[in-house]
Amino acid sequence: MTVSHHERPWLRGDDSSMDDPTEILIAEHRVVEQALNCLERMAERWCGPGRREELDGGAIREAITFFQIFVEGWHFHREEAYFAASAVPLEGFEVGAGDAFSFHDHERCAAHLRGIEKSVGVIVLWQSGRSGDRGRGQPRSGRSDPAAMRRAEIAAAYRGFGEHARAYSDVLLQHIENEEDFVYPLIERHLTPDGRRAAAEAFHRASVEVFGRDRLEECLAIVGRLAERFRVANGTVR
Ligand SMILES: [Fe+2]
Ligand SMILES: [Fe+2]
Repeated sequence: MTVSHHERPWLRGDDSSMDDPTEILIAEHRVVEQALNCLERMAERWCGPGRREELDGGAIREAITFFQIFVEGWHFHREEAYFAASAVPLEGFEVGAGDAFSFHDHERCAAHLRGIEKSVGVIVLWQSGRSGDRGRGQPRSGRSDPAAMRRAEIAAAYRGFGEHARAYSDVLLQHIENEEDFVYPLIERHLTPDGRRAAAEAFHRASVEVFGRDRLEECLAIVGRLAERFRVANGTVR
């Protein structure tokens, strides 16, 4: 379930400046969707009425690393550089039924990722037994009951994880769909020759100033491991 070579043009050994930035961004979307599918499985298995197992701190930390590096640090960063240099006005552009395309989606994703990380921190601390007095031998009723408070804190952390994970996935999947259905075609239609050159240059400049290939390879390896673990096939989202 690894990402095949032709699906990751940003890692090819040839001169990537010859590749169309939107083609590369779309290829990255497929990888991101696979990771989101894994995140949805985690939320299903670990939270809510269908909860079947304890949260796996190692797996979710890997997923967080992927979203921080590959999505925020790499994909969003280069996409914003490309859009800005294209000089095609996008903010407020309508995508579908009255919804406006917005870079705020990137910020909303970042906020939900921070929410996931915070909730996971509480749960993992509790799982590791390093969360201090977990209330053994304490009175089991009343607002000052430490065990009850601890249980409430853990329940809130699980709830928080589930809510942020589902929201993160929903926002990002819709955002990806909007970009591919409306935004990339709009840019393509309005790009001037100068704008096209400037956008391509900005994109490739951003590509070399962020991460080395080793970090990207690490991200792909993470998605491969998570897809194996959560039985998510490549490209099965939607
Ligand atoms: Fe985006
Ligand atoms: Fe994108």
